[in-house]
Amino acid sequence: MTRPRSIRARLITLYAVTLSLIFICFGGYTYWGFKEYLIRSLQQALIRRAHQIASTILADVPQKGEAYISSEIQARYAPELNDRLIRVTDQLGRTVYASKNANGLSAPPSVSFDQIGFETTPIHREEASQARELLQVVAIGYRLDHGYSYIVEVGASENEVFSALDGLLWTLSLGFPVFIGLTSVGAYILLGRALKPVDEIVQSAERITLRNLSQRLPVPETGDEVERLSLALNRMIERLDEAFQVTSRFTADASHELRTPLTIMRGELEALLKDGRLRDDQATQVESVLEEAERLSQIVEGLLLLSRLEAGESQTGRDPIDFSSLVSATTEQMVPLAEDKSIKMVCEASREVMVEATEVRLKQVVVNLLDNAIKYTPEGGKITVRVFEESSWAVLEIIDNGIGISEKALPHVFERFFRSEQVQARKAGGTGLGLSMVLSIVESHAGKIEVESRENQGATFRVRLPRLELHLGRPAASA
Ligand SMILES: Nc1ncnc2c1ncn2[C@@H]1O[C@H](COP(=O)(O)OP(=O)(O)OP(=O)(O)O)[C@@H](O)[C@H]1O
Ligand SMILES: [Mg+2]
Repeated sequence: MTRPRSIRARLITLYAVTLSLIFICFGGYTYWGFKEYLIRSLQQALIRRAHQIASTILADVPQKGEAYISSEIQARYAPELNDRLIRVTDQLGRTVYASKNANGLSAPPSVSFDQIGFETTPIHREEASQARELLQVVAIGYRLDHGYSYIVEVGASENEVFSALDGLLWTLSLGFPVFIGLTSVGAYILLGRALKPVDEIVQSAERITLRNLSQRLPVPETGDEVERLSLALNRMIERLDEAFQVTSRFTADASHELRTPLTIMRGELEALLKDGRLRDDQATQVESVLEEAERLSQIVEGLLLLSRLEAGESQTGRDPIDFSSLVSATTEQMVPLAEDKSIKMVCEASREVMVEATEVRLKQVVVNLLDNAIKYTPEGGKITVRVFEESSWAVLEIIDNGIGISEKALPHVFERFFRSEQVQARKAGGTGLGLSMVLSIVESHAGKIEVESRENQGATFRVRLPRLELHLGRPAASA
């Protein structure tokens, strides 16, 4: 139901535990209070009964004799039938009357007779009957005007009290899971609503990359921590955006400034070589410097292009293009390069697959990937190029059986200036900017690129671009 370690799950757990503790305390207090109340009520009823016996029966003893007590109690109260206990003892400790269930009862307590009539002192004793149930017994001292005094004891089983308490316990035990369950579900729903803006912020934050740093997170106008969090994150993105722009502008400016002097240098060096007045060793040195200057030019051009792509340059001037024919034509142009290394190139791109793209940029993608495939495949290898449709995507696959990419290098191939150790060891010329350019172009076309490769087992680069459905006039897929 909830993600592990989510705030929601933790709060719900805390809430349920707290509520359970409160419920248990409340239930315990209610049970104890109810029990006290019921016992007290039972005692009150017993006291009333004892008073009744004293005032209605004992009061008549002087006139009617002690035998009257037994017959009258039996007739009026039938204690056995009502499951009541009644015992009357005189001042000498002699039992004047005892109902049958009073057999197990110990001697009566001493009860004080301070007042004339009936002064009562209730005493509670708990005695186990044969059925091992507890009896509440109330004893009352009673003195007649003529010098007789008696102790009247009336008792009743506590069973009824406990069956009422059992009922309460059942209600509480059944109510507990229902109550905790319902309140937890309620809290889950409410928390879900409260945390929804956080989820939205997380999703928007995930969508923000270096390419769309101008975007901002949604700010829920709730006035609470969530609003402050999104405002703070937005300010942070703004600072990142500014810092990134400064770096980009610097790269673009530096590349631009380096272009002209590099062109001049190359021109001068070429002229020097053409002049033919250099000694052989000097000419070799100048050639080497010229090579490095050309490499430097490539880097500068690459960086300049990357800065332009980052600035969103290729967003404009897009046309519907048949990806298949663009790929076939480009492959055709690169066949001589492959033939130089006796590499067999197979192109499977016959069906029309339309995309919306900037043609030069898309061509750069294919050229860079093919250039890598040729460069990193040894003589006699094979390269397969395929273009096909896959649901709403136009897919380009370039598969080679060359040197492949090690597991360590694989996550880094799209980084600027990255060249694997194998490649650096071979001293194969290259700036390490090719794939970062490819990635930039593909992403600016709302596409994706992935690579599968293992060392010495070739590499597969797969580019996906949103397919254009011409009759609808819009891309079939959006990133
Ligand atoms: N088809 C491939 N087979 C094996 N390794 C590859 C392949 N394509 C790329 N790589 C590895 O990825 C690295 C980065 O490639 P990228 O195209 O960015 O740079 P480069 O080819 O070295 O230089 P550039 O393309 O700028 O001339 C390469 O140096 C190489 O190690
Ligand atoms: Mg390359």
